Amino acid sequence: MSRVAYVNGRFVPQRGAAINVEDRGFQFADGVYEVWAVQDGVLLDEDGHFTRLARSLRELAIERPMSDAALRRAAFETLRRNRVRTGLLYLQITRGVAPRDHAFPRPGVRPTVVMTAKGLKLEDSDARAAKGVAVITLPETRWARCDIKSVSLLPNVLAKQAARAAGAYEAWFVDADGLVTEGSSSNAWIVTADGVLVTRPLTANILAGVTRAHLLRCAELLQLRVEERAFTPAEAKASREAFISSASSHAMPVVRIDDAVIGDGRPGPVAQALRRTYLETT
Ligand code: PDD
Repeated sequence: MSRVAYVNGRFVPQRGAAINVEDRGFQFADGVYEVWAVQDGVLLDEDGHFTRLARSLRELAIERPMSDAALRRAAFETLRRNRVRTGLLYLQITRGVAPRDHAFPRPGVRPTVVMTAKGLKLEDSDARAAKGVAVITLPETRWARCDIKSVSLLPNVLAKQAARAAGAYEAWFVDADGLVTEGSSSNAWIVTADGVLVTRPLTANILAGVTRAHLLRCAELLQLRVEERAFTPAEAKASREAFISSASSHAMPVVRIDDAVIGDGRPGPVAQALRRTYLETT
């Protein structure tokens, strides 16, 4: 079945879908995005992602292109037309089309809205989670507003590619203080030797993961001890467990960081319990 994209109010064959060459998303990466996991036709953490989208738009002073209700209707229609019951929904909003000039265009330029949907098999993600993934660490190279889910992702792209080249699944950025910030497209977690779940607190240098927030609620259900604090790669390598979280990976166990094997080299019980609980509480 050929895929269908939503582009500015119209559903068009994805293969031919296009935006203007002067779209500010293309010219300046002047736009924001969201990714929802879709399961059995439901958008996981639907409201959390819409709330963060509204915040990203506000922080960049990009006009809201349409009401939340209209965006949601278009999102479900995108899923329906692509017959996606399980997979991912992608939404991008840019500042719109205007003659190239770094400063904002005149008021009234309409933001560009694009949505696509992709079917994925949960079993593939489950199979990956059953083995666990490898992570590499790299110096932080991103800007100071990683809390905004901007489409300006070049450092993330380069980091992910470095991970792939090293045979790893994800790259963790390490800041100038020697502390892990987050992954190139995920949040970072460890479970210390004495069983405490640790993840970095929300500041401007990481994305407030919607999955992260959901997993913190799962941790409460599971009565885990939680500390929101930063950790070093050395602490992570000596930890009992590690994992990453994102809409596309849920909670994904990490079994190797650089050359260090984590725990006994297999996915740990806390990461697995959180992954199960996350999928059961959506
Ligand atoms: N990535 N940190 C970064 C840098 C991310 O890009 C993402 C998500 C996360 C996790 O956020 P959430 O749990 O809300 O998905 C953290 C998405 C999935 C992506 O870029 O495809």
